[in-house]
Amino acid sequence: METTEQRIQIAVQKTGRLTDHSIDLLERCGLKLTRSKDQLICYGENMPIDLLLVRDDDIPGLVSEDVCDLGIVGLNVVEEKRLTRESEGRPAQFKRIYELDFGHCRLSIAGPEETPYEGPGSLENTRIATSYIGILNQYLKSNDIDAEAVFFSGAVEIAPKLGRAEYICDIVSTGSTLKANGLVEQEVLLDSEAVVIQTQKPLAAEKQALVDKILQRLDGVLQVRESKYIMLHAPKAALGAIRDLLPGTEAPTILALDGSDDKVAVHVVCRENVFWETLENLKAAGASSLLVLPVEKMLA
Ligand code: PRP
Ligand code: ZN
Repeated sequence: METTEQRIQIAVQKTGRLTDHSIDLLERCGLKLTRSKDQLICYGENMPIDLLLVRDDDIPGLVSEDVCDLGIVGLNVVEEKRLTRESEGRPAQFKRIYELDFGHCRLSIAGPEETPYEGPGSLENTRIATSYIGILNQYLKSNDIDAEAVFFSGAVEIAPKLGRAEYICDIVSTGSTLKANGLVEQEVLLDSEAVVIQTQKPLAAEKQALVDKILQRLDGVLQVRESKYIMLHAPKAALGAIRDLLPGTEAPTILALDGSDDKVAVHVVCRENVFWETLENLKAAGASSLLVLPVEKMLA
């Protein structure tokens, strides 16, 4: 077994909304994983890459302190850690590299249904319960609102019922937690999704090469997620109109069709989702024999 110095450590949320997506994403990058007995580490079998399964709030710190080389974590957690570290005079030692398009949620201010709300001015002289003190204080400061951020480490949504705060500032995903607690979302402070962060500490050349390789594969996986390979037949006269209808494409391949002078075959990779409407519009523009295939891998 190689020493840890030569292995890449990636911090991943242990249990939560990012866990399955994060592991799935790395497996699609070609990583084969086995879990340790205590379930805290996933060992890479075919690459020197291990996953550390930890609390999401700990991920920016682990990456910043160089315990892990990469981390997959919500932007909400990243921003909060960045702001608190800055306010403590020890700036974060990580950089954000990829937005992963899963784990979408918002950090929002919400208040009781029965409380009339007329915009941010209604927050004046109130208490707002949150575990996102850094982001909330930045919002209050930049909007010149005089309100008190009250720290709650969890179960923030019960603070108004307990009489500990008038509003809350917390993560909203489906909105069902707010609803169940009679709260209404009023201000969105941050739109969040899962991101990849990388340590800013320089890595040994061998390790950096491995990080670059996994990032390149990640990029490929992200690119193909929406990508489709489209094949169709088109009258030469309609080629311009048909090209304009193809979403997010690069130069199409035009092929001659055996036995036809006025029609050609068009093959193209679309980097966006292809909807039924698009196909119907292509058909209306003269295209025929339309085929849409999923793209499995892509290396630019
Ligand atoms: C957040 C937040 C709410 C819930 C909202 O917690 O604190 O409890 O999600 O989601 P909903 O709008 O779909 O009901 P999260 O699961 O992110 O846990 P954590 O903050 O402890 O990591
Ligand atoms: Zn958490």
